[in-house]
Amino acid sequence: MKTRFSSAWEPTAKKEGSFTKMVTARPNMPIGRSNIPRGMDLLNRQGLNKGTAFTEVERTEFRLHGLLPPQVETLDEQLVRAYEAYRRKDDDVERHIYLRALQDTNEVLFYRLLLDHIEEMTPIVYTPTVALACEQFSHIYRRPRGLFISYPRRDSVAQLLRNRPNQDVDVIVVTDGERILGIGDQGAGGLGIPIGKLSLYTLIGGIRPERTLPILLDVGTNNAARLNDPEYLGWRHERITGQVYFDFVDQFVQAVKQELPGTCLQWEDFATPHARPILTRYRDELLTFNDDIQGTAAVALGAILGAVKVTGKGLKEQRIVVFGAGSAGIGVADGLRGAMKGEGLSEEEAHSRFWVVDKDGLLHSGRKDLTAEQGVYAQPESRVSGWPRTSNGRIGLTDVIGKIDATVLIGLSTVRGAFSEPIVREMARKVDRPIIFPLSNPTSRSEANAEDLIRWTDGRALVASGSPLAPVSYNGRNIPIAQCNNVYIFPAIGLGVIASGARRVTEAMMLAAARALAGHSPALKDSSASLLPPLNELRRVAAEIAFAVGVEAQKGGVAPKADEGELRQRVIETQWAPAYATLA
Ligand code: NAI
Repeated sequence: MKTRFSSAWEPTAKKEGSFTKMVTARPNMPIGRSNIPRGMDLLNRQGLNKGTAFTEVERTEFRLHGLLPPQVETLDEQLVRAYEAYRRKDDDVERHIYLRALQDTNEVLFYRLLLDHIEEMTPIVYTPTVALACEQFSHIYRRPRGLFISYPRRDSVAQLLRNRPNQDVDVIVVTDGERILGIGDQGAGGLGIPIGKLSLYTLIGGIRPERTLPILLDVGTNNAARLNDPEYLGWRHERITGQVYFDFVDQFVQAVKQELPGTCLQWEDFATPHARPILTRYRDELLTFNDDIQGTAAVALGAILGAVKVTGKGLKEQRIVVFGAGSAGIGVADGLRGAMKGEGLSEEEAHSRFWVVDKDGLLHSGRKDLTAEQGVYAQPESRVSGWPRTSNGRIGLTDVIGKIDATVLIGLSTVRGAFSEPIVREMARKVDRPIIFPLSNPTSRSEANAEDLIRWTDGRALVASGSPLAPVSYNGRNIPIAQCNNVYIFPAIGLGVIASGARRVTEAMMLAAARALAGHSPALKDSSASLLPPLNELRRVAAEIAFAVGVEAQKGGVAPKADEGELRQRVIETQWAPAYATLA
């Protein structure tokens, strides 16, 4: 779908004021006029290059005559040609390569093209196509973008950071390439993820492109295909592990604190055994968050809060079944529990609302195999003593749904078809609007397909999925299915922390983001609409979420005080929009 943006895009003048001075200055032009390079040097600067849109005056001033065809074009005219070239590509990887090349040539044109075709191109620059781009990274590599911080250079991490292409950085996305989307260890190829993700920080959050920095911590790879590939561009070595690994991560964090204090550091696609300890260790030490853990929880929470509002009940009245107790399942449960406590429930009351089931059945206090994070959700054994159990003593999902009046059922188990017809019908028999989220990815691992859920519940279920799904037509209605995609949250968090000058990302800020997202659920106005807003509204929604995040940061004492008007203004001014600056 094509979306047009116009005057709202023009960069606004930076406002001076006490609050403004406290946060980093962010000029409209990335470079002072006297420092603008001439000739080919200017055409090679993706942040300044306008290609055929350089005016006659600019061509004269910057010695571009002869280097460009004589016709001067507008950005809109360039967009037509760029889209034509994009459409000429045969497959998604080729489209990805084309867009990446455009990004490296002319950033304004790249982001404008993306914004005009946001529904069509987001899956090309990011998931799912970026997974293929990571797999083939060494084969499709063209030009440098971001930083490789590799273990063999561990003695000069700070120096590597000083080699960054731009001095001022607002957001870093860093990965070690070990758990890339659903395709596991990609080693150095994992850099494709921070690059893609930061494109969305800019596209949706409006973070200035030259103030983003993708980083790959190259700690080796255990992927035999990569190691044996003669074209592999990363450090050809098995992964470093244990204390050596954590020490290297710490060297990196200390160097970031020294070289780029105040920059938001987002951890991405680290394997679970590394992701949590890293987050726990650094979350109170610098401005940092892990999107896989916290962003996932916030978007799911946002969609659930929206669904709960549609049912007309409060969150604290819900009885929630989470199927799958891995990092995603526990993360989402943690977010919901925090929100329940925010609505006034005690720790014990909030805890009693959760029924978490993993491959060995319901989590309860009689089980000795639970991790500390899972143990939080163990129901007292006395509460389930008379419940039916399988021959090996497990209490399965069917038993839980049969015994309680579950109002929310969330799947993060990777078990295809686990939300069977009897389970869903039993749930729908007891509640008017069952909230059912089969969130496992990819679609082949989803706990249910949306069409079945709608049919088995006579169109009453409020559904969101992990992967994008087509709307379901039922009884003459077209029911859109929301996709719980983290893109609803992380660009807005970035915008919120930059605009507010926040020093930390707190759980309360993530919760505020989820609440703000829920407040923009289209289903609040029309109960058969999607639970989450369409992509082409995300820039606007991101600004609202960013504002809520900033307000919460101030409340929590991790951002300088500003009145609401000032903060709102700051969010608007921080949100960069792709329009050419007049250089001469
Ligand atoms: P994980 O491997 O950490 O956890 C999987 C959990 O499922 C484990 O607790 C396991 O015991 C449970 N499980 C496996 N087989 C089961 C069975 N037969 N019955 C009951 N439980 C079973 O995986 P992680 O990272 O938690 O991801 C789970 C799924 O969630 C993946 O498909 C992932 O793609 C999806 N996901 C979706 C997101 C979204 O929609 N935004 C975000 C993050 C993850």
